[in-house]
Amino acid sequence: MSNEVIPPSNDRLRSQYDEHVMPIWKELDVPVKRASGCTVEDFEGNEYLDVFSGIAVTNTGHRNEAVVEAAKDQLDDLVHSCSYVHPNRPVAELAERLAEITPGDLRKSFFCNSGTEAVEGAIKLARKYTGSTEVVALEKSFHGRTLGSLALTGNAAYKDGMAPTINDVTHAEPPYSYRCPRCEGDCTADCADHIERVIGTHTSDDVAAVVVEPVMGEGGIIVPPEGWLERVKEIAHDHGALLIVDEVQAGYGRTGELWASDHFDVVPDILTQAKGIASGLPLGAFTASAEVADAFESGDHLSTFGGNPVASAAALATIDELRDGIVANAREQGAWLSDRLADLESRFDAVGEARGLGLMQGVELVDPDATGPEGVAPAPDADLAKSVSERLREEGIVMGVGGYYKNVMRFQPPLTIEREQLESAVEALETAIEVEA
Ligand SMILES: Cc1ncc(COP(=O)(O)O)c(C=O)c1O
Repeated sequence: MSNEVIPPSNDRLRSQYDEHVMPIWKELDVPVKRASGCTVEDFEGNEYLDVFSGIAVTNTGHRNEAVVEAAKDQLDDLVHSCSYVHPNRPVAELAERLAEITPGDLRKSFFCNSGTEAVEGAIKLARKYTGSTEVVALEKSFHGRTLGSLALTGNAAYKDGMAPTINDVTHAEPPYSYRCPRCEGDCTADCADHIERVIGTHTSDDVAAVVVEPVMGEGGIIVPPEGWLERVKEIAHDHGALLIVDEVQAGYGRTGELWASDHFDVVPDILTQAKGIASGLPLGAFTASAEVADAFESGDHLSTFGGNPVASAAALATIDELRDGIVANAREQGAWLSDRLADLESRFDAVGEARGLGLMQGVELVDPDATGPEGVAPAPDADLAKSVSERLREEGIVMGVGGYYKNVMRFQPPLTIEREQLESAVEALETAIEVEA
């Protein structure tokens, strides 16, 4: 083996990935050397405006100064203690802070490393508290990729050939108004009643939890109709189940409120978090009322790295930063963006629907000359989304593509984004649609 040190470059990284990193997802394909605020830079000095935040994570902006400082200070003190064996200060303070900032009577948290772990831990807790086993989730949902969360995830594309081992999950219809075969664009709170029908027909009515995203992220930025989440909670409680609200993607200011649940005035029984929690350091959590949380007994759940002191210190700084104007910025820029995207919807036949809350906005691209699944709405156009995304990248803009049908352009920038940056991303999207559609 040669000792020659090959300097990093875009091509070198790509070939290292090809040779040695499992072939998972290289759709964006922008090798990143460094990032700051809303800008990422590759190894050739090219800069990109990032409107995807590393999949909705860097809510306080890449390398937010206060967060980086907090993490560095903590590195000087304590890097690891196993937070469940040796209590440490950042975890104690973060848990106390989450009790203050999460909705209603949510009071006690468990810390892990990622969203999927948060969801799985929440399911364990719901099972322990209720003594029931079954779980109801939604079709087209996304809750993670480890086996338990994958069982909840309502999308075969993520499961192909890796069928999960948990069989106690049943799926109900999501509030996907634009493509709802029954309501055709006009879903209401009553659509939640499908969950009740599913409990009555597909379960043995021994349900521990109903798990929903307050705004469905990977499914295509799907916002439920008014009253829907309240009705879901009612149904869950009528059947002795808990409501788990998965805020992994929608939480931490993304929707213009600290929690997406706040838009709907619903206090979840368990709230799951990750992504934006620590501005990019790996951390996840789930938070419950003291009554629910105390169903866990010593030894029921643990994570070696969960609640890492450095990530927890970063989370404390993240929360301070978010509350110091960043969530307000997400609300303000989000309102502007929403109007701007509604305008695209009205002008382009290829834009089927623009929807979202705050800085979690999606633009669903369609083929206006073909009919969509179940004869509802124009057909999803994943090819168009792919070419629009590629064109945007050529123009120096990193924008996510998602949705159950892979046809939704995702605006999920750092919440610190400024109007001019957002405007340039919308203008570039408009041009790309004009050229590619
Ligand atoms: C709503 C939701 N839950 C859970 C997850 C899984 O999070 P992670 O990738 O950190 O495991 C995601 C990731 O996209 C998500 O959007």
